[in-house]
Amino acid sequence: MAAPSWWQRGAIYQVYPRSFADGNGDGVGDLLGLREHLDHLTDLHVEAVWLSPVFPSPMADFGYDVADFCDVDPLFGTLADLDQLIADCHERGIRVILDWVPNHTSDRHPWFLASRSARDDPMRDWYVWRDGSPDGRPPNDWRSEFGAVGPAWTYDPDTGQWYLHSYTPQQPDLNWDNPQVEAAMHDVVRFWLGRGVDGLRIDALQRLAKDPLLRSNAGAARRHDQDWETAHDRLRRIRRVVDEYRGRIIVGEVYLLDLPRVLAYLQGGDQLHLAHNFVFLHLPWDAVAFRSGIDGFQTLAEPDAWPAWFLGNHDHSRIDTRYDDGDSGPARARAVALMLTALRGTPFLYQGDELGLPDAEIPPDQVVDVDGRDPERSPIPWRPPSVAGPGAGFTTGTPWLPLVEAAERLCVERQAADPRSTLSLVRRLAALRAASPILQTGEQRMLDAGPDVLAWLRTLGSERLLAAVNFATEPRPLLGEDVPDGRCAVLLSTDPGRTDLSVTAGACELRRFTLQPSEAVLLRLLDDDTAQ
Ligand code: GLC
Repeated sequence: MAAPSWWQRGAIYQVYPRSFADGNGDGVGDLLGLREHLDHLTDLHVEAVWLSPVFPSPMADFGYDVADFCDVDPLFGTLADLDQLIADCHERGIRVILDWVPNHTSDRHPWFLASRSARDDPMRDWYVWRDGSPDGRPPNDWRSEFGAVGPAWTYDPDTGQWYLHSYTPQQPDLNWDNPQVEAAMHDVVRFWLGRGVDGLRIDALQRLAKDPLLRSNAGAARRHDQDWETAHDRLRRIRRVVDEYRGRIIVGEVYLLDLPRVLAYLQGGDQLHLAHNFVFLHLPWDAVAFRSGIDGFQTLAEPDAWPAWFLGNHDHSRIDTRYDDGDSGPARARAVALMLTALRGTPFLYQGDELGLPDAEIPPDQVVDVDGRDPERSPIPWRPPSVAGPGAGFTTGTPWLPLVEAAERLCVERQAADPRSTLSLVRRLAALRAASPILQTGEQRMLDAGPDVLAWLRTLGSERLLAAVNFATEPRPLLGEDVPDGRCAVLLSTDPGRTDLSVTAGACELRRFTLQPSEAVLLRLLDDDTAQ
């Protein structure tokens, strides 16, 4: 394979700006706070940072309800601050990806204000308006993505019609069947790419195309409210706009739990560069399940479709909590970090994954999200509360969400000082990937290596690495014909108790290698029948 593109080389790190770092003491993270913590990103060798939305917004969905696509919300700073952030990142060799929310706007966006003002307003058709049923019910049976919201329709008494919202009522869906909407949204893409942004994450891409006849889902073979066949040409036209600029990418949030349908957005070289694979994110902690998730992608993807692997974002319970095995240690979160780094494809890291953060406890009177996602959005603890106060270096004010209880132990400052910490491990992994063409572009073959063990081989020229993850809570040997003969050295282990790295660096037999409970390792093959 040729030299990798920047977006294939290393990790893309998701910043949820509200919760990353607060520069002005109002309790909410902002661009100034982020700029002050760019060393953290450099230490993680990230190739790019993806920012969740920072655009003007009434914050009904914490920024995913956008009132102006081409500006910055004063809560986060100014457009000049964002320009400065982009320049600062570029100076460090870090690319910037913004979150583009094309499916909907805020109900305060001027387009929607015009659209709802009158049935004959020229912008009426920019959104999806319909009459209800004669007995006063919504036009069809579509439901909001958020269970608590219920129907995906809200009645507007002033004009006597219902409007569609796939999420909250404050997020009316744009009508992408209207070419004027498509053109206006293409202009937003040009605005940001022209400003030097390196890529866009496309929010809720599967929602951009719906059945134009708005038929109900009930009884239908497939859903009518998303993933309609018009999606692909629509995406190709977006890609053509992106390709007007050099070296820019689009990452799609394709929230479909059906791998062939996800891959349909990635194939052909003229759609997405990278797709978030939610089938992978929803896998249970089980070696067989992960094996089939990875094999599934490899089998279905065209040779040029590049994989991306992620197991956490701002919408899902954190890795450490989701995969909790009852002991309090972050062993599985550490194993995940190694897995994402060593698989062929682009790893995505959600802020805090590098600390092994668990979900935060949110007391009922502090819940703010409509869909129960506050626990994974808790602010990053930078410094020990005993030193920096209750804001843990995230803020000098009152944090907008409570911090994790273990902030004292899990904060960046403490972990950076401890070579056995999760942060130190993730930094080592990132440094290794940055320095290892084999981890970036090497071929990959999955191996049968015994019960509860997920193992794979990476090869580049005569170099060979074996990665293995033990999904069991007891030790497991590497077993079976598939495990190459010969000696190996441990490059990296996620088990802080494995103190024999120097001994094993002196080499051990691969077929006698035993993984510790929940341990993941990267082994360098030293010699064997084929690699002499
Ligand atoms: C995406 C975002 C989520 C948001 C939704 C609506 O799924 O990740 O946070 O609520 O889209 O924009």
